[in-house]
Amino acid sequence: MASTAKPSEGFRTQQDETLSGKQKGSLDLYIVRRLLGYITPFKGLIAGAVALTAGGAILGPLRPWLTRIAIDDYIARGDRHGLAMISLAMLAVVVLDGLKQYQATWLTGLIGQKAVFNLRMDIFRHLQRLPIRYFDRNPVGRLITRTTNDVEALDEMLSSGLITIVGDILQLVFIVVMMFASDWRLTFVVLSVLPLMIWSTIAFKNRVRQAFLDVRTHLARLNSFFQEHITGMKVVQLFGREEHEFRLHAGINADHRDANIRTVFYFSIYYPLIEFLSSVTAGLVVWYSASRLLKADLSVGVVVSFVQYIWLFFRPLQHLSDRFNVLQTAVTSSDRIFRLLEEPVEPEPTATGTQTPMRLNDRIVFDDVSFAYDGDNLVLRDISFEIRAGQTVAIVGATGSGKTTLINILSRFYPIRQGQVTIDGVDLAEIPGPALRRLIGVVMQEVVLFTGTVRENLCFGDPSITDERIREAARIVGADRFIAKLPGGYDYRLRENGSGLSAGQKQLIAFVRALLYNPDILVLDEATSSVDTETESLIEQATDRLMKHRTSIIIAHRLSTVQHADRIIVLHKGTIRETGTHQELLARRGLYHKLYLLQHPERSRVDG
Ligand SMILES: Nc1ncnc2c1ncn2[C@@H]1O[C@H](COP(=O)(O)OP(=O)(O)OP(=O)(O)O)[C@@H](O)[C@H]1O
Ligand SMILES: [Mg+2]
Repeated sequence: MASTAKPSEGFRTQQDETLSGKQKGSLDLYIVRRLLGYITPFKGLIAGAVALTAGGAILGPLRPWLTRIAIDDYIARGDRHGLAMISLAMLAVVVLDGLKQYQATWLTGLIGQKAVFNLRMDIFRHLQRLPIRYFDRNPVGRLITRTTNDVEALDEMLSSGLITIVGDILQLVFIVVMMFASDWRLTFVVLSVLPLMIWSTIAFKNRVRQAFLDVRTHLARLNSFFQEHITGMKVVQLFGREEHEFRLHAGINADHRDANIRTVFYFSIYYPLIEFLSSVTAGLVVWYSASRLLKADLSVGVVVSFVQYIWLFFRPLQHLSDRFNVLQTAVTSSDRIFRLLEEPVEPEPTATGTQTPMRLNDRIVFDDVSFAYDGDNLVLRDISFEIRAGQTVAIVGATGSGKTTLINILSRFYPIRQGQVTIDGVDLAEIPGPALRRLIGVVMQEVVLFTGTVRENLCFGDPSITDERIREAARIVGADRFIAKLPGGYDYRLRENGSGLSAGQKQLIAFVRALLYNPDILVLDEATSSVDTETESLIEQATDRLMKHRTSIIIAHRLSTVQHADRIIVLHKGTIRETGTHQELLARRGLYHKLYLLQHPERSRVDG
């Protein structure tokens, strides 16, 4: 089911946080069915937990029953021996009840944890297969909320909700049966309060449900906000926006607080109300019993046991509404989780077997390609060119002209709107994913590094690469010297996204990583960040070495790096403006010439 969120809605969108368009009833059923899929693997545990809960449900109501016997049969008659025996029986019931609770809690917790583990695995697997488009649309914070809070809500339901509800309902049934068995008229006195009780519970439930929904929505926004601002703390400080962002945060935080306060408010009314109703019922029972006691129509034991039944009877009712809240929250969370799990994954081409090029033998062809990220806003228009095996092609152009987009298309991160890209005559869309990823290696404009050692980052995805090869590659790229200076060298632990390394160093690590990956087609999206002249010449050399002996596409911001390319493609606002070699393009005195002069003002006198 496709998400209806539009990218412009940002994290302010609420649409994605609330129940989807499905009919309420069918949605609940659907969610229950999917949830069952996660707990059925633990049938044995569930059977055990249900059996314990069912068996345990009789233990609670047994106590008032024993109390009545103790009072009427033994205390009244002064039977000390009988009283001792019944006391022992009560002790046994209490111990069994404790044991049952311990076992049931343990088993349900086990089921919850195991199911949630699998669910998280599925979420991550699915996230990995989603098209990049999906991540453009969905803020990271929201996705994190899915894997943390929403999954926790499910855990809570599985480990404390579902089975306990069965236990509570069973206990209610047992209590009613036992009350009827003791005295049917008193039972009706107790049950007379029930309509009021049910009415207030339903009223409470409806209000608190909406409040819980709001809490979840605001929590997701709060998470998004934190994620964005912690990552972007530098910019906030640089622009002195602390106060402004603080106020923004205050707003989101206050919404979250208010929604929570509303839930607290409803609970603070509901609980005392139920307590009050229980007390009134107990009073009614005693009042009603008084005349019958005097007439000896009723025994003291029955009255005492009924007062106990009342407390036992109302507590599970109270719990039930609590548990329904847990269920409700879990249903909301499940809805969102399953919607994420149903986001269509990147379709795998129906491989026709032979079409799995591992090497580029002939050429890559862009044939009249047009593309838009969203809507009709074309970012690339009628792009046609070809790259022969072994050639180096450079793409240059102003910022925003569509260079990275071209690479996004070749990497199949986004589907083409119009036209076709072929590799050795095979349509890009028909090449199986793994084959395509093996064929093309991309050094991205923004280097992404993961928490872990330098070595782990260098041989990302392939632990079989030997240390010698790593060192050799680092030497070829020229990264060996700075790595040697890091504390621990190749074992130096990088922090999140390589913070602690300079932009140039990160770039070099990305180069070594690409060299070790050793793709047949290398794509290099040069970083825009400027580095010092020494690093720059190092990167230039590294680029040359990387491109040697393979088909390369290089997106360059520094025109000095592209002069030796076999062909240069000049992009302008999403269209190809000119193509040719460095010399040809200079001679043409067009856009390339202009860009060149901008970067080499000293040449304007010589050439111009
Ligand atoms: N994920 C995206 N969703 C929507 N629009 C995008 C996305 N990425 C880029 N764009 C838009 O596409 C256009 C081309 O962007 P692109 O990243 O290809 O430029 P570029 O030539 O690589 O620029 P630079 O030299 O700054 O790297 C820009 O107008 C940009 O706003
Ligand atoms: Mg770019």
